[in-house]
Amino acid sequence: MSKTFDVIVIGAGPGGYIAAIRAAQLGLATACIDDWTNAAGGPAPGGTCTNTGCIPSKALLQSSEYFEHAGHHFADHGIGLKDLRIDVAKMLARKDAVVKQNNDGILYLFKKNKVAFFHGRGSFAKALDGGGYEIAVAGAQSETLVGRQIVVATGSSARALPGVAFDEERILSNDGALRIPAVPRTLGLIGSGVIGLEMGSVWRRLGAQVTVLEALPTFLGAVDEQIAREAHKAFTKQGLKIELGVQVGEVRANKKGVTVAYTDAKGGAQVLEVERLIVSIGRVPHTRGLNAEAVGLELDERGAIVVDDDCRTNLPGVWAVGDVVRGPMLAHKAEEEGVAVAERIAGQHPHVDFNTIPWVIYTSPEIAWVGKTEQQLRQQGRAYKAGTFPFMANGRARALGDTTGVVKFLADAATDEILGVHIVGPMASELIAEAVVAMEFRASAEDIARICHAHPSLSEATKEAALAVDKRTLNF
Ligand code: FAD
Ligand code: NAI
Repeated sequence: MSKTFDVIVIGAGPGGYIAAIRAAQLGLATACIDDWTNAAGGPAPGGTCTNTGCIPSKALLQSSEYFEHAGHHFADHGIGLKDLRIDVAKMLARKDAVVKQNNDGILYLFKKNKVAFFHGRGSFAKALDGGGYEIAVAGAQSETLVGRQIVVATGSSARALPGVAFDEERILSNDGALRIPAVPRTLGLIGSGVIGLEMGSVWRRLGAQVTVLEALPTFLGAVDEQIAREAHKAFTKQGLKIELGVQVGEVRANKKGVTVAYTDAKGGAQVLEVERLIVSIGRVPHTRGLNAEAVGLELDERGAIVVDDDCRTNLPGVWAVGDVVRGPMLAHKAEEEGVAVAERIAGQHPHVDFNTIPWVIYTSPEIAWVGKTEQQLRQQGRAYKAGTFPFMANGRARALGDTTGVVKFLADAATDEILGVHIVGPMASELIAEAVVAMEFRASAEDIARICHAHPSLSEATKEAALAVDKRTLNF
């Protein structure tokens, strides 16, 4: 007899595992199927985010930042160190341990919330007369489950350059980029997007000579222009070599390294020779092995599952969330959709506001933003006021010894409603939360300017940028 559930979630990344927990909290009998397998052959729920994305990348960013501080900044504090060196094997083992803590945490949460977890590949077997679907699980033990409602949260995978497969030895996706066994002398990156900048920063801090080749003529095109300029200046000063407007040609790997032929922005033929190459040119929705055809689940030309604003697919009782559908490929976006779908299945009416989803790039300085950029407002012809405050004038940033960057507010010229907040600087990832809350409550810049912020704190730069909208900063 098949096991029957109210809800079956396929995929236990941030979209799927959070949807499963919320569904179970709402009293629905819930199963979650995930095929990610750890080195010991066991389950590793958490998806890309936990295994080869957000969590391990932040672990390595932290280790490499400590190394850079110890090597370059401790001396300013009067701290002397002799024979500083990096033990890459230990750094990677720590990263793996952090990943495992998160995998185990999710398994614990499934138990706590009574979510039935199945380790294996889930696929549509058939639609059942009278509603619901039969889902096959292929794993150590094969099973057939029946679900009244199905949530597909199968995520995404790295996009390869055409004709250049990832070997994870020399030509690396995000997976290989997170487990390079020794600091390469030279490292190439194709794509100066989020992964390119984060992973480039990690290996540059540890001593690699890093070159990033980017097809677009502008740096970080989705980021507010002023912030992108500040960030570009900071990264270049750190020694990250970023070439814009290139066209990548033939890529060849051998035992010693990788050769990349490309045309530079001026049309000149160039060759980049590096020990390893990370290809970070975006990600593609992942539906392989789902057997979507068996039930007629509609995909678009990019291979993403087609959904409406509420994450409903073309099939009754089938929903899809996270990287496998339209919208930004971010863990917190996947989570919000997962919660909303579980609540809709339970008959509630939640809402996900795409305009207040924050973005963070965890480089140093960090880059974070929410809402509209200045170039978007100009394109829309919207009248706005801008206010900027530099960390150089913030007492806490001076004490930290980290004064690069600014906080920038964009507010409606007539109503003063906050339309966007953009930060490049220390702890931008944490500072942006205040802006998200403010925008959710449709606050004005003056609201933030009138709120008492602790002194000395980086958040005072946020208050001062809000004051700057009305040209009345107090400390600059
Ligand atoms: P995923 O996390 O991809 O999970 C999908 C899961 O489903 C996987 O475990 C997969 O194996 C499983 N699966 C697929 N098909 C099947 C099947 N048929 N049966 C069973 N299981 C299946 N986002 C941020 O917000 N912040 C960050 O700092 C950040 N850093 C990142 C760093 C890197 C290097 C990368 C690559 C990504 C990063 N992201 C970050 C993006 C983030 O990882 C994704 O947006 C997020 O993981 C998407 O969640 P998801 O649940 O949709 O899919
Ligand atoms: P991306 O979309 O951020 O950047 C890809 C870059 O590659 C773009 O600048 C693009 O113009 C460039 N590119 C594309 N084709 C190219 C080519 N043939 N030659 C040279 N350049 C080319 O994608 P990335 O960095 O792979 O990351 C994928 C996604 O993962 C991100 O968009 C983001 O959603 C998520 N992510 C989020 C993080 C975070 O939130 N901190 C961290 C890492 C990833």
